[in-house]
Amino acid sequence: MATKIILLWSVLFNSAQSQILPPDLKLGVATASYQIEGGWNANGKGVNIWDELTHTHPDLVADHTTGDVACDSYHLWQDDLKMLKFLKVDHYRFSLSWSRLLPGGFTNQINPDGVAYYNNLINALITEGIEPMVTLYHWDLPQNLQNLGGWTNPLMALYFENYARVAFYLFGGRVKTWITINEPSSICVGTYEDGDGAPAFVNSSGIGLYLCGRTILLAHAAAYRVYDAEFRKKQGGRVGITIDSIWAEPKTNNSADVEAATREMQFGVGVVFSLSGNYPSIMISRVGDNSKREHFMESRLPPFTPKEIKLIQGSSDFFGLNHYHTWLIANQDYPDSSPSYHKDKGTKGTQDPDWEPGIVPWGFRKLLNWIKNEYNNPLVIVTENGYGDGGAVDDVNRVVFLKEFMRALVAAIHDGCNVKGYTVWSVMDNMEWRAGYTVKFGLHYVNFTDVKRTRTPKCSAYVYATIIKERVIPGE
Ligand SMILES: *[C@@H]1O[C@H](CO)[C@@H](O)[C@H](O)[C@H]1NC(C)=O
Ligand SMILES: *[C@@H]1O[C@H](CO)[C@@H](O)[C@H](O)[C@H]1NC(C)=O
Ligand SMILES: *[C@@H]1O[C@H](CO)[C@@H](O)[C@H](O)[C@H]1NC(C)=O
Repeated sequence: MATKIILLWSVLFNSAQSQILPPDLKLGVATASYQIEGGWNANGKGVNIWDELTHTHPDLVADHTTGDVACDSYHLWQDDLKMLKFLKVDHYRFSLSWSRLLPGGFTNQINPDGVAYYNNLINALITEGIEPMVTLYHWDLPQNLQNLGGWTNPLMALYFENYARVAFYLFGGRVKTWITINEPSSICVGTYEDGDGAPAFVNSSGIGLYLCGRTILLAHAAAYRVYDAEFRKKQGGRVGITIDSIWAEPKTNNSADVEAATREMQFGVGVVFSLSGNYPSIMISRVGDNSKREHFMESRLPPFTPKEIKLIQGSSDFFGLNHYHTWLIANQDYPDSSPSYHKDKGTKGTQDPDWEPGIVPWGFRKLLNWIKNEYNNPLVIVTENGYGDGGAVDDVNRVVFLKEFMRALVAAIHDGCNVKGYTVWSVMDNMEWRAGYTVKFGLHYVNFTDVKRTRTPKCSAYVYATIIKERVIPGE
């Protein structure tokens, strides 16, 4: 029997027509609180940095919109459940709004309405046999904590630890997969280097992002250690971090470009996930050397103490991966004397005009193999992968994207990569941060002019539902 199955597997696997999914690969969809919930000031919720940014600087959002209502999932979560039931996903990844649970960010005040909201959602998911996969922090920091310096304040690690403890206590009996922080690099580079996150106007080239990154890693590790010490035995779940990564393909085979591509990966992924618990050595040396040349008295990359390195080392039960794009990376020297992250990294990215925009599945396979080789083949859960477009219901490109990327994923598993989960961003169109509603990633169309925010399955939703049901990626 077993031989037959393996034989059948290899026949189908090698066939160009269709591809069977490994039986232990779980399939899901993802969202994030600010992007879907709305109810921005409902029943005791506190203000967060995205409320603040969109209210005070609508000019900084592409279409001058807000997430005040968004998909209105705060009121319409049962409609969300219908979509999940239609797709029959194994898991649903969503995030908790910190300021809905703890309006001021601290644990002195817990909002019962926020607790009830997430209890209802989690209970309904479990009733439907859908695993809740919960992100603690997906970018919507309580404004109150931002006023105290946000992620550049080292005490934020402690405040996050306390928030995590409350969440584990409240929901950890039912939630068995926790993601501490979504995309540390996006948070710190976006906000403090490139000035395209929230809050605005706090960018401080070459400096702020390293303070932010340092605190975020300590916050993540602190939450992980709290789970270990106080909850793991009773609750038996797992805790990881979600890292965003491109695949960095060397633009040429010249050693300068090959090294640049390695730096791109180390400055992006290596800084968050490492076997040593410390920053990658290439990063320590480059930021240190640049800082010296710029006449700083110490490195702009503040070091970890040996105790902190021990805290961080091994502080993830899995590697959560968000992947969207592949870039061609070349070496780039920045003669400029002013400090900057991009100068520290010393790379330049371009995309091949011959590529289908956003559809480079071989990059996904290479990235998964790189993670396998770099980190002793850790357990990987793909926590986001998706395709953005103008929002048509007849979303042909997204269907192509989905099939191609899932094929690349299965190929990577065949290469020996330990991937056990795949999660599409997103179950429905939503508020895409500074892009507002100008780009759509949903498997479902959401009518944002309709008070009922009607959700309609796109072609890709039918395709994904079929893949989940048949556990086969259909052929061309
Ligand atoms: C800093 O951020 C602001 C808005 O958030 C942006 O206009 C400006 O270009 C950014 N500066 C740099 C150097 O990136
Ligand atoms: C670099 O070398 C590899 C192996 O020889 C080859 O497959 C690849 O196409 C080369 N890349 C470029 C950009 O020339
Ligand atoms: C969206 O909803 C509005 C208001 O109910 C309706 O007039 C419009 O036809 C809907 N649009 C689509 C594309 O369904």
